[in-house]
Amino acid sequence: MAERLAGTIERINGSLIIGKFDDQPKMGDLIEVGDLKLMGEIVRLSEGTAYIQCYESTSGLKPGEPVIDIGTPLVAELGPGLMGQIIDGVARSETELWDLTGPFISRGANIPPLNREKVWKFEPTAKVGDKVSSGDFIGSVQETETFVHRIMVPPNQEGTIKSINAGEYTVLDTVGVLETANGDVDLKMMQTWPVRSGRPIKKRLALSQPLITGQRVIDTFFPCAKGGASAVPGGFGTGKTVTLQQIAKWSDADIIVYIGCGERGNEMADVVEQFPEIEDPRTGKKLIERTIIVANVSNMAVSAREASIYMGITIGEYYRDMGYDVSLMADSTSRWAEALRDISGRLEEIPAEAGYPAYLADRIASLYERSGRVQVPATEERIGSLTLLGAVSPPGGDYSEPVTTTTLRFIGTFWALDSQLAYRRHFPAINWLQSFSRYLGVAAAWWGELDPTWEPTRGQALRILEEAAEVEETARIIGEKSLPDDQRLILLVAEMLREGFLVQSAFHDIDRYCAPEKQVKLLKLFTDFYNTVRPLIETGIPIDQVRELDVIREIMRLKEREGTDPIDAAHTQMMNEIDALAKHYEGENA
Ligand SMILES: Nc1ncnc2c1ncn2[C@@H]1O[C@H](COP(=O)(O)OP(=O)(O)O)[C@@H](O)[C@H]1O
Ligand SMILES: [Mg+2]
Repeated sequence: MAERLAGTIERINGSLIIGKFDDQPKMGDLIEVGDLKLMGEIVRLSEGTAYIQCYESTSGLKPGEPVIDIGTPLVAELGPGLMGQIIDGVARSETELWDLTGPFISRGANIPPLNREKVWKFEPTAKVGDKVSSGDFIGSVQETETFVHRIMVPPNQEGTIKSINAGEYTVLDTVGVLETANGDVDLKMMQTWPVRSGRPIKKRLALSQPLITGQRVIDTFFPCAKGGASAVPGGFGTGKTVTLQQIAKWSDADIIVYIGCGERGNEMADVVEQFPEIEDPRTGKKLIERTIIVANVSNMAVSAREASIYMGITIGEYYRDMGYDVSLMADSTSRWAEALRDISGRLEEIPAEAGYPAYLADRIASLYERSGRVQVPATEERIGSLTLLGAVSPPGGDYSEPVTTTTLRFIGTFWALDSQLAYRRHFPAINWLQSFSRYLGVAAAWWGELDPTWEPTRGQALRILEEAAEVEETARIIGEKSLPDDQRLILLVAEMLREGFLVQSAFHDIDRYCAPEKQVKLLKLFTDFYNTVRPLIETGIPIDQVRELDVIREIMRLKEREGTDPIDAAHTQMMNEIDALAKHYEGENA
């Protein structure tokens, strides 16, 4: 048991408690605040004075009440029972608390995320006499119907297995004993890790695979990579939450960690209510069976929000260490940054841009640095990845504010949501002129296997869209009809691409997910259309005749058809119609 230092409350400033200790407590340690034993964390120390950020409402607290340093920092509990849980940012089980107290958790209530009574069937995979070190698998537990939880030697341990037993155990029971240089260590299914530091890794590896999301504008134009980091900035109602949830549902990650750093309490309540109902397209079961939700739903202080991101990342790293591809969504990192600002303000630190502390960039960097594809510290070669996807909600949708601009420096994909597009109900409202991906090389190698023409096709489609943006400028001045036909063709194909490819409804039974094979076939249809029609326009066939082709309407609807057969059929139809049009004009000119 860690030593518990006692002190008293001297002053209270909102969620900040100033406490006096006789002995020096530790920076970052968790504190029980007041008679109610509220949770808090030491955020600054000077001499015996501790500045404690309280995670819960401090109303009613009085100077003179006790503060107790419990001797450990905020840790994540890691082990069987985590999957499907909704926990809050300071590691309390909300699933259980809700049953007890309803959505507004009473202050001081505390239920740990991992159930202490629940019994799991532990099946050893290591044997007595095995030499093992941190990260090595010693056994497994069927945690949910679809998920096998691998039990690992905790970080920074090595030795020889002295005993290990199959059987029914709780997370705190001893399932085996490890003989180490410093004596025997009991092996349990639960381990803990301080959330503010990353779990150890053996080696960082180059990213090698795109994260396939089934969302065309993302996968085809601005791909993310497994182990990469992406930002989804956008004003209110532009589709941040829907985008992140689509990726949670449809991406080819094994495990999802969803962090709700909610803007409003009821939005979070929605997540908590709706998420468990979502069907998992991969398994036919519920998505929640391979999802962990971290959400501060209760009326907790902002500082709890600040901690929630680290809690989620630590959980993500733990599953990464088992060799899984983990995707973590944080909605939204702006709320997290605002919590930082709030805490900094109460500490009376000198504010930098927009009131954020000067260390904002360091904090954002250290968040995204925890993404990656890594070799896990284990004897066998094991690789896992953690992908971070963060929504950013800039006030007024202004991308020049500090959280957005700073985030840009540390991420690899930027999906710029555009309120104009959202207003026109072009969803996902990802602006194709402002967004970017630094993972194109990774994506191109993967897509190239599927179709060697992927890269040039994608490049041409994007150029058409970019050119169309310029042509539209001119069209606004002189009118579309006055443009030369080759420019009007650009506008036509761009419009076809927008409606028939970029727009993708999250709520359409078929179109909500688009398989990679379908994406590339569909895209090629648009560039083939352009490349076939363009020479005809040059020979003088009027664009207005091209616009009349029946196949155009068909092409725009293909995304909503099952599979790729209709695309092949449309391709044939397209070639025939274009051919007929060309013949008709040849005849006229002969
Ligand atoms: N991919 C999409 N497909 C269909 N509708 C969408 C899509 N993305 C966003 N929307 C629409 O926009 C609304 C707002 O999206 P939401 O994700 O809640 O915005 P934000 O989180 O940025 O405030 C949704 O309720 C939905 O109607
Ligand atoms: Mg939202």
